[in-house]
Amino acid sequence: MKLTFASSINAKNQLLIVPIFEDGVISRVLPKELRSLAPALKAEKEMHGKEGETFMVTPLSQKLPKQVLFTGCGKEKKLDGAKVRNSIAEGVKFARKHNAPKVSIYLHASLEKYLQELAEGAVLSNYNPAKFQTGDNKKKNEKSMVKGFEIITKKKKRDAIRKGQTIAEGVNKVRDFINAPHNLMDGTILTREARKIAKESKLKVTVLGKKQLEKLKMGALLGVNKGSAVGANLAILEHKPRGVKKDKPIVLVGKGVTFDSGGYNLKSGPWYADMKMDMSGAAVVLGVMGLCGKLNIPHHIIGMTPITDNLIDKDAQKVSDIVTSYSGKTIEVNNTDAEGRLILADTMSYAVDKYKPKMMIDIATLTGACVMALGEKYAGLFGNNEKLIEKLGKAGREVDELTWHMPIHPDHTKEMKSKIADLQNANYGGQGGGASTAAAFLQEFVGKTQWAHLDIAGTAFVKHPKKYESPMGTGYGVRLLTHFLENL
Ligand code: BES
Ligand code: MN
Ligand code: ZN
Repeated sequence: MKLTFASSINAKNQLLIVPIFEDGVISRVLPKELRSLAPALKAEKEMHGKEGETFMVTPLSQKLPKQVLFTGCGKEKKLDGAKVRNSIAEGVKFARKHNAPKVSIYLHASLEKYLQELAEGAVLSNYNPAKFQTGDNKKKNEKSMVKGFEIITKKKKRDAIRKGQTIAEGVNKVRDFINAPHNLMDGTILTREARKIAKESKLKVTVLGKKQLEKLKMGALLGVNKGSAVGANLAILEHKPRGVKKDKPIVLVGKGVTFDSGGYNLKSGPWYADMKMDMSGAAVVLGVMGLCGKLNIPHHIIGMTPITDNLIDKDAQKVSDIVTSYSGKTIEVNNTDAEGRLILADTMSYAVDKYKPKMMIDIATLTGACVMALGEKYAGLFGNNEKLIEKLGKAGREVDELTWHMPIHPDHTKEMKSKIADLQNANYGGQGGGASTAAAFLQEFVGKTQWAHLDIAGTAFVKHPKKYESPMGTGYGVRLLTHFLENL
């Protein structure tokens, strides 16, 4: 999608989007050229300018585009970034449905400070999830995409739209990674993508392969990888902008399970097929690292993604196996389906050891329990530092990627103690609270490091998308973490 600025309405564009507000100011926001449409707009009983409302008019004038779509933004005084994104998405979806490849938007003054959000909304809602269709379907999908998006305004802030576009394109790429099934996104391919992102964004990249992981004694990560045809990898991307002191880095860790069959605790049920998304955390971290480079975020940031699948064969880890983690702690694997915490544990204790981070944030599709508790709307937010939790929560609210602070109680930690080893990876006969006990398990591997954990099992891959999302991969977390890092 090409985003450009214009100073007047161009009749050649098939669709003109006009965001309007509630509280009786409808005609006031209309520019001279559109005043002729005011009576139709006023007469329309269903259109009050409320959020989510739309109203299409076909103007008679040759000087106007074929279709004008009014989109409601709610009360003018209560306008925020999320409403702008949603309102633009409404317009872009309409354009795609009606094959209008060239769209313009008339920007009222109060929307001018939301140019970044506007660009985000446009690019995010122009995403094509049906990447693997061919022939006529492919043609149809591509034809329905908006190619040109012209912003009619006096304040031409190119930086803001370029930034919004860069971020949204980063999110769309992460969605592609998540939506690709295992045969098209296995450990080898995901690792290759990690290298590509590093190259594009001029980041340093290191990939620790199976042999090196063995040397480092990452028994928990390697245990999960035992049933795999592809060796585990730990991809490490480093963003160290010039001029930034070589101080302690911020470490991001993303769960990269390219397919989670459950292992010998085999999964079943209709959501089984969704487990291609179990590398969402890794995809998000790679996306954020790419953006750190492109937006030149002024901090030393390291992204780490442990990558493996969780499969079954004669060598695969058995239920009740005991593995020795990188930290030296032994873990009784009493459920092979609780694999995410195993690969994160080794990665995080290695990060603490090697990089002595000033803070560490992990992001993972970790527990079904989190989906039960919070659904698709909120990610579970855990951690050992109130300030960090507060900042992440705020960043999430500001970009419309919501989190909910969840507890880790000392009893949750107790439940993860094993009778035979130091820890167990699942708490049978426990008291419920599976998202919290998983977080309590992770906490055993971060030492005194300031740490937060985002459980995105519910938000990463959805059936009920937001206006600017499609079903399946959302890229949830990219905007949150990028915004958080930018404002540190
Ligand atoms: N990848 C799953 C969690 C998940 C479930 C993500 C649903 C997205 C949607 C994770 O590896 C898992 O299987 N967790 C188990 C843990 C249990 C065995 C302690 C779970 O939540 O059932
Ligand atoms: Mn699992
Ligand atoms: Zn998993």
